[in-house]
Amino acid sequence: MVATQDMALRIEGLVKDYPGVRAVDGATVEVVRGEIHGLVGENGAGKSTLIKMISGVVRPDSGTMFVNGTPISFTSARDAYKAGISALHQELSLVPYLDATENIFLGRPYPTTRFRLIDWFSLRHAAKQIADLLDVDIPLDVPVGELSPATQTMIAIARAISVQATVLILDEPTASLSDQEIRRLFRVLHVLKQRGTSILYVSHRLEEIFEIADRITVMRDGRVVSTLPASQTSVDDLIRLMIGRSLSQVFPKRTRAPGRPLLEVAHLTSSKVSDVSFVLHRGEILGIGGLAGSGRSEVLRLLFGAERRGGGTVTLDGKSVALQSPGHALRAGIAMVPEERRSQGLVLSQSVVENLTLAHLRSFALADIFLRPSHEALVAKGLVDRLRIKTADVGQNVAQLSGGNQQKVVMGKCLAGQVIVLLLDEPTRGVDVGTKFEIYQTIRGIADSGSGVLLVSSDLPELIGLSDRILVLHDGHLVVTVEADQLDQEELLRLCYGRPPA
Ligand SMILES: Nc1ncnc2c1ncn2[C@@H]1O[C@H](COP(=O)(O)OP(=O)(O)OP(=O)(O)O)[C@@H](O)[C@H]1O
Ligand SMILES: [Mg+2]
Repeated sequence: MVATQDMALRIEGLVKDYPGVRAVDGATVEVVRGEIHGLVGENGAGKSTLIKMISGVVRPDSGTMFVNGTPISFTSARDAYKAGISALHQELSLVPYLDATENIFLGRPYPTTRFRLIDWFSLRHAAKQIADLLDVDIPLDVPVGELSPATQTMIAIARAISVQATVLILDEPTASLSDQEIRRLFRVLHVLKQRGTSILYVSHRLEEIFEIADRITVMRDGRVVSTLPASQTSVDDLIRLMIGRSLSQVFPKRTRAPGRPLLEVAHLTSSKVSDVSFVLHRGEILGIGGLAGSGRSEVLRLLFGAERRGGGTVTLDGKSVALQSPGHALRAGIAMVPEERRSQGLVLSQSVVENLTLAHLRSFALADIFLRPSHEALVAKGLVDRLRIKTADVGQNVAQLSGGNQQKVVMGKCLAGQVIVLLLDEPTRGVDVGTKFEIYQTIRGIADSGSGVLLVSSDLPELIGLSDRILVLHDGHLVVTVEADQLDQEELLRLCYGRPPA
């Protein structure tokens, strides 16, 4: 039993209902002063909703909260912030047209000069100090919308740690970060912990949770199932608590008898990659490894026509294809699951069914001459079942789905039509373990049906376990192609760092 005075945060019986779903169902959690408290659970378990209530973004229907033993009730994020709670939300909520400095200090009184003008010099200086603490190079005066997802995350983290918080809350902070950036973040979290800050940390990456958390709370279907010391539990235990059954973490069998060449890429060149050549065969899952910024996503975007090709040729089934736009690519049978799902993959204002069938309206229209809503709904329902998308019904707005379920919609969108080549950029980012392995089965099934899959993933076990072969990019160049079953993680990482094969 922890003494009450050591309790930085205590929530008791929190409830939040949304139409058709009880998102959080009587959750009780205690966060001790100076502890890192992990929070895990399947997609849609209620983690983000819980955090939004603690940070004043969403009003609980019932329940009580205490910060340092004092009862609190927030009517806004500002209230929560004043009470010492600082949060980084899963959807970053940066203002895209403001620069990093403005975003970091947004909503707080800016320092002024003695002429009552905003003291930009001091502000930039303060922003720079936080960036230095995180050991990252953040361009401080560029609209953040123009920066990479990883940099945007670092800015949001900088913002969250820029206040002296009693409780710092991070919801999936590492989803788009490189290993190196994660290391830097963890260093800072340890420093904050030493200073007595309590940290509530949500992640689907269980290894991360075990590395950093002192105690772990598991949620399932809106309820807190258990809170355990990290030292007294295991990944297997957590998974069982999260999904209520045990799960054999196995990758689908490679069924490869490689088919004929499907996609032949020769001398692909742009501002970020040069002279990349490879062949993707029918039935093959071809992984692309490399560090963040090595050109992995660029290759996919070029093949999807989302980025201008500077040179090189692409042939699909022996025919040269121009791929000047995503529209071209889709009509040729090339579909893509992009890295940044919210900005690139979804229309947040539309429903699940609209999003799932969006890219393929043409094929529906051609099949039926008139667009038949019932047909669309049928296809959408099939995908919702297949990918276990947690949604009240297919008419629900995608903005209301949990982060991981939005990711599944992006995936489903690609499966709605005829796909010959599937381009996947970090397809299981933010997806819970149970669904992850179902998605692996789905991807292997797509390859087995004769399509080709190009897979970019920073999750090394995933890249090795799922791919047939792996291309490794370094600084925009293709350095080596290897059979996946002849690699271990260490060797793959060496190659990603541009070292020669051992
Ligand atoms: N604004 C909203 N309107 C309607 N339903 C919502 C809303 N926000 C969340 N929900 C529902 O509440 C449930 C819990 O969602 P929540 O975002 O808290 O899950 P999560 O544990 O954070 O999942 P993930 O790991 O996918 O991020 C889900 O069924 C979700 O669809
Ligand atoms: Mg969430």
